[in-house]
Amino acid sequence: MSVACFGSPPSTGSLPLSTTGSIETVSRLRCIACGATPESASQDFRCAACGDLLEFVFPGWAPDAPDPATLKSRWLDRRTSREPLDQSGVWRFRELLPHIPAEHAITLREGNTPLYHLPRCARATGVENLHAKHQGMNPTASFKDTGMTFAASSARHGRFQWVACASTGNTSASMAAYAARGNMHSLVLIPDGQISWGKLSQSLDYGALTCQLRTDFDGCVRILNELVRQKPVYLLNSVNPYRIEGQKTAAIELMEQLAWEPPDHIIVPGGNLGNSSAIGKALIEMRELNLISRLPKMSIIQARGANPFYRCVREFGGKKLEPMIADTMATAIRIGNRASWKKALRVLQATGGEVEEVSEAEIAIAKAEIGADGIGCEPASAVTLAGLKKLRRSGFVKAGESVVLILTGHLLKDPDFTIKFHRGDLFSGMPESSVAAQAKNLQRAPVVLDADLGAVIAALDAVGERVEK
Ligand code: F0G
Repeated sequence: MSVACFGSPPSTGSLPLSTTGSIETVSRLRCIACGATPESASQDFRCAACGDLLEFVFPGWAPDAPDPATLKSRWLDRRTSREPLDQSGVWRFRELLPHIPAEHAITLREGNTPLYHLPRCARATGVENLHAKHQGMNPTASFKDTGMTFAASSARHGRFQWVACASTGNTSASMAAYAARGNMHSLVLIPDGQISWGKLSQSLDYGALTCQLRTDFDGCVRILNELVRQKPVYLLNSVNPYRIEGQKTAAIELMEQLAWEPPDHIIVPGGNLGNSSAIGKALIEMRELNLISRLPKMSIIQARGANPFYRCVREFGGKKLEPMIADTMATAIRIGNRASWKKALRVLQATGGEVEEVSEAEIAIAKAEIGADGIGCEPASAVTLAGLKKLRRSGFVKAGESVVLILTGHLLKDPDFTIKFHRGDLFSGMPESSVAAQAKNLQRAPVVLDADLGAVIAALDAVGERVEK
């Protein structure tokens, strides 16, 4: 790629992240570790003083908190508006976000995702009041759109021509779509052979320059961090604090859907930990603003083969995070180093949540159970139900409590996994083959038949007999 393809950022080496707000919202950047409050961020979004992550804070709320009742009714009114920004489930809550001028906003009407009761999963877990907030119902079919609408808009506000991310597939799909809508070019770095075709095909169609690097996700992140130091490319991974701000709105929308009555538990999958940081940040801010009267416990679930945060909490008491070589079939969360672990840890501690790890078999079974409720999700999302089962067994979640699972991606993101599961191919040769029996009840392999009525009726009767037993 020649240098001529890149636009110049307005100022050398730093982003135009104005920290002066609009009439509605005044925000500042602050380092989560040393507390420095820079006027702008460098291109890797790290604190210039200590190298840790930045976050947005809202000093204006301290003396002059917006009135909760006014906010709630304003947000509700916007649901009937014809304005594109009001129709977005992210920009509708803009009073709780840093200011970006409306003319730079790129929206695909993201957010507005459904909250479903899960009756079968409720029976399986013994938690009657069990719901799923399905973030896979976003425009590019994952939760990434809520953060991407906001961060891509900040790139456009900064007059960047190129945006980039390293990804396990969903961030890249989302970024490519928003870049295309905002007339920007996008560069995707993905681990070769480790992301699902569904996700890869999205970034191709949305016109991204897609580079499949012969490394893992963590290797892609390393290259990207180097790249943004050399080229005027706007980084759209979740270290970008605008991503976190946009993703906060899932929790705000959830509370609105629950008539501002928080559930006892929210359960989130843990990858790079941006999503859990964002949801937790929103919960804490909503509590500070008296939009909700108490904090739900927010728990984070990881795949056992990619569990550095679980180990950080359980083995090292939250003192350090030891990176690992990650391995899980839930490719979205196949991440060995976790950018936002300190933010996530803070949320875990503030809300009194738990951390859990689940096996490959537990993920696959939970995914099929969510599917059997007519909802469906991708493997990384199913860690939430698998984790809930463990949290029930440990007594952390009680039968009478209310629980919301955050489903992060759509079932169709990874059809290979689903087909292998139903054909019984997923666990072949794996040490966990003992769970194959448990999976059998859920498996619905396709039946190949001659084009013959009798054969179809025989197949129908065979299933009928099984159902009646
Ligand atoms: N679920 C899905 C479907 C994901 O795609 C991801 C992350 C996560 C959960 C974990 O979220 O990183 O905020 O803790 N996917 C990233 C990507 C890494 O590149 O698409 P997290």
